[in-house]
Amino acid sequence: MNFREKQMSVTAVVGAQWGDEGKGRIVDYLAQRADMVIRFQGGDNAGHTVMNEYGLFRLHLVPSGIFNPATCCIVGPGTVVNPETLIGEMAELASAGVALDNLWLSERSQVVMPYHRLLDGLEETARGSGQIGTTRRGIGPAYADKAARIGIRLGDLCRPDYLAARLAQVLPHKNLALQHFGQPALNLDDLLAQATAWGRVLGPRIVDTLPMVQEAVQRGRRVLLEGQLGVMRDLDWGTYPYVTSSNPIAGAACAGAGLPAAAITEVIAVVKAYCTAVGAGPFPTELKDDVAVHLRQVGQEYGATTGRPRRCGWLDGVVLPYAAWLNGFTGLAITKLDVLDGLPEVKLCVGYRLEGRLITHVPDTPDLERCEPVYETWPGWSRSTRTARRWEELPTEAQAYLRRIAELAGAPIRYVSVGPERDQLIVV
Ligand code: GDP
Ligand code: IMO
Ligand code: MG
Repeated sequence: MNFREKQMSVTAVVGAQWGDEGKGRIVDYLAQRADMVIRFQGGDNAGHTVMNEYGLFRLHLVPSGIFNPATCCIVGPGTVVNPETLIGEMAELASAGVALDNLWLSERSQVVMPYHRLLDGLEETARGSGQIGTTRRGIGPAYADKAARIGIRLGDLCRPDYLAARLAQVLPHKNLALQHFGQPALNLDDLLAQATAWGRVLGPRIVDTLPMVQEAVQRGRRVLLEGQLGVMRDLDWGTYPYVTSSNPIAGAACAGAGLPAAAITEVIAVVKAYCTAVGAGPFPTELKDDVAVHLRQVGQEYGATTGRPRRCGWLDGVVLPYAAWLNGFTGLAITKLDVLDGLPEVKLCVGYRLEGRLITHVPDTPDLERCEPVYETWPGWSRSTRTARRWEELPTEAQAYLRRIAELAGAPIRYVSVGPERDQLIVV
């Protein structure tokens, strides 16, 4: 069947900034009416917070649609999976009463091996003052091995002989690297035993996910693609080298999930009403004043994966059109509006000053590091937005600010989030 003949419904949900925009929260909401949710890139560097009737969760690998038992959740081939984290996360969800029958793992996903995690930490420490600020979860080393064609894949965990042969080839190189950092070598038999044990636990879920995805799309089922991080940490378009090692933009979702390029029908950009970043690299609107303290405290801006305090600043309206172009936004989900409640004024960066010139595009990292933000100032609002459930219930000042964000992003507002709970959402 030609996939174009059917009415398709494939929505990518992506981060429009530096990550932690609230993607987990939005996917959890949308998944109430979704048939399938696919994580298409990244690994357990992700921390997607979800609050609903089951409790509070910080999901690292399991798609945020897991709370709807009717939703098929797929960890797609574009991801890198640490089986240890995944098994722990599954146990946590199961003990909260969440059904996992509908969780599937692509046999093509890369495995984050213990040496990846060790090397991520060692390499990061060795960078000294040039640290990227990675989550030390082994993400970069795992994707590097994927590209070097020496990665282990989830499917390999279920083929002991094949796995043994692959590991025997790879491990000597990894041990050389570990020894370079003065670390003890890893033992092949121990590693094999660990990997086959993972295979026994996860094996029944490790499948060829492509037929499931094909069938869902061809039958016009509602499919969500859950992105990790945001455009400013994209391997190609983010603040290189202060980026992650995969592509969080919507264009990469097709490869990472197993879809034809034209399959995506909607791209929902998750935009935080201000900006945060964890890790190093340029962040032009970063604040170090009382406003930063307000945003961090009220917004609880601490890393969901590492607990690091997030860097906070005003919304960057130069990044927004850049993100919109690279992703093709069809709608916006603006989150954490409530965190701005009570501020006397709200600023929005609409340009950068670089060597005395005003620019309105995102330049490459060395230039971005020298950019000074140029702001518009918008009146704040004193009334709490947390209980608003309709657009008309928002203060007019907040409405004006949101409209300006939509104008800069060139896409309509579809959702406004005014709190972390599932129902603290305005559908516009
Ligand atoms: P993600 O990685 O994009 O899924 O975002 P994170 O979960 O890392 O960070 C978002 C944080 O903001 C989490 O602690 C959420 O519970 C919280 N959150 C999400 N939406 C809102 C909102 O509208 N208001 C408030 N106050 N918190 C929110
Ligand atoms: P979610 O999906 C925020 C950042 C790290 C570092 C850079 C590279 O919850 O938005 P990595 O470990 O990927 O090699 O680190 O990316 N980073 C995140 N920042 N949210 C995340 O995920 C992140 N995942 C990685 O801080 O700057
Ligand atoms: Mg996060």
